[in-house]
Amino acid sequence: MFYIKDASEYIGKEVKIRGWLYNKRSSGSIKFLLIRDGTGIMQGIMIESELDPQVFSKFDDLTQESSLKVTGTIREDKRAPGGYEITIKDVEIYQIADEYPITPKSHGTNFLLDHRHLWIRSKLQNAILNVRSELIQAIRDYFYQNGFAMVDSPILTKAIGEEAATLFETDYFDLGKASLAQTGQLYAEAAIFSLNKVYTFGPTFRAEKSKTRRHLIEFWMIEGEEAFYDNEMNMDLQEDLVEYFVQRVVERAHQHLETLERDISALEKVRKPFYRISYDECVEILKKNGSPIEWGQDLGGEDQTILSTHYDKPVFIYNFPKHAKAFYMKEHPENPDLVLCSDLFAPEGHGEIIGGSQREDDYDKLLNRIREEGLPEEAYGWYLDLRKYGSVPHSGFGLGLERTVGWVCGIEHVREAIPFPRLINRIYP
Ligand code: 4AD
Ligand code: MG
Repeated sequence: MFYIKDASEYIGKEVKIRGWLYNKRSSGSIKFLLIRDGTGIMQGIMIESELDPQVFSKFDDLTQESSLKVTGTIREDKRAPGGYEITIKDVEIYQIADEYPITPKSHGTNFLLDHRHLWIRSKLQNAILNVRSELIQAIRDYFYQNGFAMVDSPILTKAIGEEAATLFETDYFDLGKASLAQTGQLYAEAAIFSLNKVYTFGPTFRAEKSKTRRHLIEFWMIEGEEAFYDNEMNMDLQEDLVEYFVQRVVERAHQHLETLERDISALEKVRKPFYRISYDECVEILKKNGSPIEWGQDLGGEDQTILSTHYDKPVFIYNFPKHAKAFYMKEHPENPDLVLCSDLFAPEGHGEIIGGSQREDDYDKLLNRIREEGLPEEAYGWYLDLRKYGSVPHSGFGLGLERTVGWVCGIEHVREAIPFPRLINRIYP
């Protein structure tokens, strides 16, 4: 089957394009159809004097988004969008589309979100989804090439991974309540004792009552977990991964980034080493820049924006106060108020894309933290077992896919970084 993206291989040849009408215009006896097939957009030319009148008249019937098959010859033309054109010989119509709700004029975001099932056909949304797909492939390839085994963690679980306040609960037969996974991490930890280095890639759920440009209710997370890695090695790994997938996307999705008018030079700067600053230094920088933050607090959305505008490359903030972070992080050996962890912030105002840490590997300390946080101890028996049977130092991290897509594409809000966003006030379509 012919696809528009492969046009350069078909110059002078007759092909069939199967797709949808993007737009049309007429200049007397010559008509122009802009046809998209999901891989590109191509201009088709209908010349009255060379066409059967029955074929020529189909131009008038065609509405925006009508589905069609055109037969014709590919020509190179520098002036045409995409650089190629098709001189049309025949047009076959699959369906004449009803009046399409999304027109070239501008629409409000709510209207577009209500029509997300149609909106994804647009040029910019198509580019974002293509970048997302390239990113996913790059991430998977990175882990594969670096000796990580892929494991699937359960979605239904009783062990709270992050915080009790943001759980989605459901009844689980005779076994009480279960909740949708906020993270696959705890299960990834179990898996390293079998496979050494693993990653998970799946949907995660947070009933967060926040309506910010960085929050989704359902989002996709990639979580690496590595036996015998300390927090430094964990940061080295994240840096290597992020450099790899950003440069791969620059290389293989260049055209989509151009469609999005992304400043590609900013992405080309994403090379190791990234910046690394301690939480203590970070608080100083934030205070100097007008943030009301106090030592001991986690970084808010505004703090993320300030910090990530401050640097031209991703920056790690490491070793946070223990009580600002989740129960499983390893206590700092020289300062029990801190944990060995890091957040990675993307530049250009985007903010946190990764949360990672060394894990508490001491049975008693971990049990103590579970109790301090008031977590249901009975759900963590299996997790505590991992500290009883051959416990080892280990670390891991979770990369939020939509925030990463948002950053790489240079879009403001994560809702456009996923095909069908779930937001606090939206579950349609
Ligand atoms: O920092 P978080 O909460 O870390 C974890 O879940 C760890 N268990 C990961 C690990 O160590 N294996 O989430 C990780 C990342 C964030 O940095 C962010 O990119 C993304 O997940 N994220 C969200 N993305 C969109 N919407 C939300 N509501 C998100 N919450 C977290
Ligand atoms: Mg985090």
